[in-house]
Amino acid sequence: MTVGERPPDLVRRATVADASRIAQLSGELGYPADAAQIAGRLERLLAREHELVLVAAPAGSAAAGWVHAAEQETLESGRRCEILGLVVGAAHRGRGVGRRLVAAVEAWAAARGLELVTVRSNVARTQSHPFYERLGYLRTKTQHAYRKRL
Ligand SMILES: CC(C)(COP(=O)(O)OP(=O)(O)OC[C@H]1O[C@@H](n2cnc3c(N)ncnc32)[C@H](O)[C@@H]1OP(=O)(O)O)[C@@H](O)C(=O)NCCC(=O)NCCS
Repeated sequence: MTVGERPPDLVRRATVADASRIAQLSGELGYPADAAQIAGRLERLLAREHELVLVAAPAGSAAAGWVHAAEQETLESGRRCEILGLVVGAAHRGRGVGRRLVAAVEAWAAARGLELVTVRSNVARTQSHPFYERLGYLRTKTQHAYRKRL
């Protein structure tokens, strides 16, 4: 980026037209998917009012990063907002893009009357831990993740 060039900080709702770039960034996050798969998921997610998918992208440019968050309600904890995915492209890190994406999620959650934003981050994602702490997130626990393929 040259001096005076505007950083890629324009945060807006994602559209299906962002699928290809979101797929590229998902690959960087360690979740490879092709544009058609992401487009299908986006179509379903964007139709649900309790889901939020944002991209940081100056008008006319490919997204520098994306975030997916959702309102969740559990029996034991009630309503909250959870960040389900976040990635900023390697070439765009360290310029406040992640901070802007998370701030936009927080504003959306607050407007819905939610009082808590949570995020689970793999212990291997060492970059994200100081990032969330810098943004005021407190580490509350460490978990094991289980899965069973059906
Ligand atoms: C974590 C990630 C989203 C951060 O995005 P980013 O755009 O580089 O972060 P920002 O530039 O907005 O940083 C915000 C603040 O966190 C700090 N920060 C970010 N990464 C940091 C790091 N690795 N170590 C220390 N501080 C860090 C910045 O210095 C900045 O502080 P400041 O605003 O007070 O100067 C990005 O590194 C990323 O996509 N990593 C790989 C995927 C990942 O881990 N995703 C999270 C999954 S839960």
